[in-house]
Amino acid sequence: MKITGESFLELAYTLVRIRDLDVLLETILKRIRGMLGADAGSIFIYDEEKDELIFKYTQNDSVQLPFKEFAIPANENSIAGYVAKTGDTLRLKDVYHLDDEYPFGFNVSFDKMSGYRTKSVLAFPITDLNDQLTGVLQIINKKRYEVPLTLENVNRIVLPFNDNDEMVAESLTGVISLALENGVLYDNLEKMNESFITELSKALENREPARTGHVNRITAICETLASEMHRDLDDFPDFFMNRLKDKILRYSCRLHDIGKLFVPEKILTKTEKLYSGMTENIENRFRLAKACARLKGRPEELVCELNRLLEVIKNANISDINDKISEDLEKCAGYVFEDSDGEEVNLLTDEEYRLLSIREGIYTDEEIKSMQFHALGTYEFLRNIPWTSELRDVPIIAASHHEKTDGSGYPFGTTGDDLHVFSKIMAVAESYDRYTSDSRPYGQSMMPDEAAKEVKKDAEKGALDMKIADFFISKEIYKRF
Ligand SMILES: [Fe+2]
Ligand SMILES: [Fe+2]
Repeated sequence: MKITGESFLELAYTLVRIRDLDVLLETILKRIRGMLGADAGSIFIYDEEKDELIFKYTQNDSVQLPFKEFAIPANENSIAGYVAKTGDTLRLKDVYHLDDEYPFGFNVSFDKMSGYRTKSVLAFPITDLNDQLTGVLQIINKKRYEVPLTLENVNRIVLPFNDNDEMVAESLTGVISLALENGVLYDNLEKMNESFITELSKALENREPARTGHVNRITAICETLASEMHRDLDDFPDFFMNRLKDKILRYSCRLHDIGKLFVPEKILTKTEKLYSGMTENIENRFRLAKACARLKGRPEELVCELNRLLEVIKNANISDINDKISEDLEKCAGYVFEDSDGEEVNLLTDEEYRLLSIREGIYTDEEIKSMQFHALGTYEFLRNIPWTSELRDVPIIAASHHEKTDGSGYPFGTTGDDLHVFSKIMAVAESYDRYTSDSRPYGQSMMPDEAAKEVKKDAEKGALDMKIADFFISKEIYKRF
């Protein structure tokens, strides 16, 4: 087969667009084998630092064996090593009958294991524009026509590679090298991205101790739920996952609460109505108020009343309050005494009073708003990252984990029809995790079955996608977490 300028360009264009290293290796080998009519082939990538060839990818149309990456020294003891060392292209008619001029023998272990017979080989170096070695390609068993090879037909079907094959192979090395360099670079970047994202989410969790492990749990629940949905062709015939979608979901989960960076730490670390350190300040002020009352000869009943009020405050700090408690708090807020320097002191500051007066839960309306801002914060943070085009949906998917199918969620109020399916999956995971894992005094820490019922109720109220929530519960996926 002759390679035309057009097909060369087409191949170049195809290869440079592939980012995923595995897909790239697969495509390179498939295309070259197709051009040369070869049954099998392998790609080795050169590790300059270790002076080794890494067996990175292999294809064989006739036998299937599990692939395992390994490294061999780049020396003259093997076919690929010889090519790497000398820079020569090798065209071998039959590797079981090698000329004495070659210092290497053929390693038959793969053939023995698989019942395959390697015969003709074309091995050539992949070099970059500066003639530096990037890898070695080994193309195996050129076929007379397209049939699977067997030990019986191999001598009849397999042909030696010819001059033209060698020319085609050599004309492609530049573009393969470029694509491989890009692919390896991108692969390293990906690995760096992944570990950066993991570390970032860990660092973030340290700011909110009550939710330690939340990001890992959400990621695990979503990955499992998505892969079960992928497998269930009856319930989800149009839903499928692949490597890219796995990555989009994983990144979205790991980063979904990144917007908590914008939430003040004193709110994130809150476990009661008052911020940390405030209770001690109030106790000290009460102590001072009682001492001053005694000094000024005020009746002992006042001291008793102050003791009672302090208890009211301590209780109000950790529980919901009623009108009676509210009145007592008002009384405290209005109590002013004179200290030993004649300075007027309020028993409670405005902020303490405001926080203690929260009727339900431990957050004020402003604090709830500030907490909810994290979803928009996630969007703002992530949308400023220059994602590659295949990952461009990560910001919106990640930011929409508190959206509700009926449109009453935040930050955008998107309804079910417009929500990405991954956001719906994340919302189910969020709901379940909220019911099972919130360790705050006001949080709910239910047993799995009880929590599953609450998730179902959320779905019935229109907060969650009914089909996904139902699937999560009826297939008992929640019991795995
Ligand atoms: Fe979350
Ligand atoms: Fe969140």
